[in-house]
Amino acid sequence: MRVVAWTRARPAHEGNEIAGGAASPLKILLTGGTGSFGQAFVRRVLADRKDCTIRIYSRDELKQYEMARTFGQDPRLRFFIGDVRDRTRLDRAMHGIDLVVHAAALKHVPICEFNPAEAVKTNIQGSQNVIDAAIDAGVRRTVALSTDKAVNPVNLYGATKLCAEKLFVHGNVYAGGRDIRFSCVRYGNVMGSRGSVIPLFRRQAESGVLTITDRAMTRFWLSLEEAVDLVLEAVGEMKGGEIFVPKIPSMRIMDLARAIAPAARIDEVGRRPGEKLHEVLLTAEESRCAIDFGRHYVVTPDVGSEPTSGLAGRTLPEGFVYSSDTNTEWMSIEALRRHVASLVVPVPSPTSRAPAAKNGESIGPGVSPAP
Ligand SMILES: NC(=O)c1ccc[n+]([C@@H]2O[C@H](COP(=O)([O-])OP(=O)(O)OC[C@H]3O[C@@H](n4cnc5c(N)ncnc54)[C@H](OP(=O)(O)O)[C@@H]3O)[C@@H](O)[C@H]2O)c1
Repeated sequence: MRVVAWTRARPAHEGNEIAGGAASPLKILLTGGTGSFGQAFVRRVLADRKDCTIRIYSRDELKQYEMARTFGQDPRLRFFIGDVRDRTRLDRAMHGIDLVVHAAALKHVPICEFNPAEAVKTNIQGSQNVIDAAIDAGVRRTVALSTDKAVNPVNLYGATKLCAEKLFVHGNVYAGGRDIRFSCVRYGNVMGSRGSVIPLFRRQAESGVLTITDRAMTRFWLSLEEAVDLVLEAVGEMKGGEIFVPKIPSMRIMDLARAIAPAARIDEVGRRPGEKLHEVLLTAEESRCAIDFGRHYVVTPDVGSEPTSGLAGRTLPEGFVYSSDTNTEWMSIEALRRHVASLVVPVPSPTSRAPAAKNGESIGPGVSPAP
């Protein structure tokens, strides 16, 4: 596990030790805290810090009930039923908070496609509510989670996340001269998150037939742990307005299928609307104002923030595109097999089970609905 200096959420004089410390506990608000990322984040923070309180903010009481049980009723966890669309409730939840991590979203590509106004309300208006409430409550640091689907978006989910990115980057302007900062992290499909492709492939493997939409498809590969790493690094490093992009390997969807079910027949069924062949994490335009910080890239803001260009990092070559098909780092079938074997894929409760096998952020790349 990386040691991350995620300390700037608190004024230095209050003490920022990762474990312990005499100061009052660091108070974190985690929207979407019952989700895949949220639970991984909570597990890490509770292990790292004794002195913290995490408020989980989400809508479904059953998920909160189950999460409270999973975490053994840890007193550092507080559960708020609330919707990011509800500004008044957010105001209450933000009270006294040092750090907000905004993970709540509608992320199922087809569901966003068929319910566009709902996706706009949660992913765009909800994000603006989080920003406004954080400014009014004087929250010093807010990090929002974004996705490669926000880059050159071809589906509504991606478009809403692009809008959310823009809102968070420009939130720094609305904060005025106060030490209130907003940044984003942007990453690709998380393998092992709720609804990811892996449980679907495992299920299909039992029938001996895997359905794939396009054999040539590639995706970035990221674990939940790495997503948590990135967010914590962003909290420690952010000056406001950056988009943090991790350097991660790519995988071929065919390799993943072979890793899970080497002997299965592969049926190619054709790409669905809004599904890209490859994903992009950095465009050539963004690369012009991005910096290579070793483990990750940072897209620097063009307005309203402290300049990050003076930070130790390399500028990127003209025209650099960070795309899943031209990546220099790849997961081999063997590496995929090892990772898949080590994954504890969340099992949804019977009442919160997602509809089977939709594609996109939820189910993952190149996968067709189960027959
Ligand atoms: N998973 C991926 O592959 C991936 C990749 C890149 C980026 N991301 C981003 O990472 C974030 C977390 O993803 P995840 O995989 O953890 O998603 P997830 O497992 O589906 O969790 C989503 C969370 O958001 C909550 N939520 C949904 N709508 C809400 C609303 N209107 N108000 C308050 N809470 C709401 C859900 O709880 P309730 O339903 O109970 O409200 C749940 O806690 C999302 O922003 C997503 O766009 C995910």
